[in-house]
Amino acid sequence: MYDTKILPPTPEGIREAAEILRNGGIAAIPTETVYGLAANALDENACREIFKAKGRPSDNPLIVHIGRFEDIYKYAEGVSGNALRLAREFMPGPLTMVLPKKDIIPAVTSGGLDTVGIRFPANKTAQAVINECGYPLAAPSANLSGSPSPTVLSHVVRDMSGRIPAIVDGGCCTVGVESTVLTFDEEDRAVILRPGFVTPEDIGGVIGEDNVICSAGVTERVAEGERVLSPGMKYKHYAPKANVTIIEGSYDRYVEYVAAHNGSGVFGAVEDNRSYPFSSLFWGASPEEQARRLFDVLRGLDDRNAVQAYFPCPGKKGVGLAVYNRLLRAAGFEVIRL
Ligand code: TXA
Ligand code: MG
Repeated sequence: MYDTKILPPTPEGIREAAEILRNGGIAAIPTETVYGLAANALDENACREIFKAKGRPSDNPLIVHIGRFEDIYKYAEGVSGNALRLAREFMPGPLTMVLPKKDIIPAVTSGGLDTVGIRFPANKTAQAVINECGYPLAAPSANLSGSPSPTVLSHVVRDMSGRIPAIVDGGCCTVGVESTVLTFDEEDRAVILRPGFVTPEDIGGVIGEDNVICSAGVTERVAEGERVLSPGMKYKHYAPKANVTIIEGSYDRYVEYVAAHNGSGVFGAVEDNRSYPFSSLFWGASPEEQARRLFDVLRGLDDRNAVQAYFPCPGKKGVGLAVYNRLLRAAGFEVIRL
């Protein structure tokens, strides 16, 4: 049990977090996407502590966060032409590239795979902690395994209090969904394993739309026992205690549907502050706003002891694809088409 300290994002707070990390400890830090649970990526014992604190399956690899562009070459082998083009365009930023790993990355960090996910976060506090440490930081989202990712300080406090020595306060995360994860096939095409704020359209704009593929797991359920490129995709994720259902159809039909299925413990996520004939939870109208607020809305369902929650189906383009991907997992792939 730790007496978890909340550190401010000041030079002193950053130094204190870096000291914990340099000594083989773990600490939660903000990034622009979600809060991460960080440890020295080159120290397998420190990384083991991450898996323990989260209750995470050991075959699910950790993303390695760097604080300088050139460090890609320290940890990844053979950075392809398209990988370099995308890195130049989107790093620092909410993009993770899965590349062949160098031996310096321990098997514990990479979940036993011969690849490593590399991300250079844009968040200044994250960059400062990494650079103050002098090591790359392995960091999964700072939630208990299976819970929605934390996008505000109180989420991290709720999941990690007592389990870790410190949390650096970074306020609210601006993106709200985790980074876009992609890898490259033999023809150097980008294969999207997890959609995010860097969209397939953005990626196609840099390397050509014919060079972008979405892996099937992005919008479909992965069959039991099937081999997946990204181990994280096979686990049930982001799920509140309430049953979550996605309603596909116009927004007006959605409102009618929820009103018709109203009852005690029933909630509907809505896009504005109008009054609705059911208990509504404000979510947002644009894909960007829905991305930023999704995990807070999902956590809010538990606070309200919700039994059933309905969500209007996000558009599957742009940032909407990332929102849809997370919501599908929270809903256990339950979609009602009106
Ligand atoms: O935005 C983010 O990416 C956040 C912040 C903290 O940086 N991190 C994050 O980490 O979301 P995590 O561990 O919750 O999700 C990482 C995902 C998992 O689905 C994992 O399986 C996949 O990326 N991944 C990581 N390394 C991989 C690798 N070498 N090969 C395939 N998939 C990998
Ligand atoms: Mg996660």
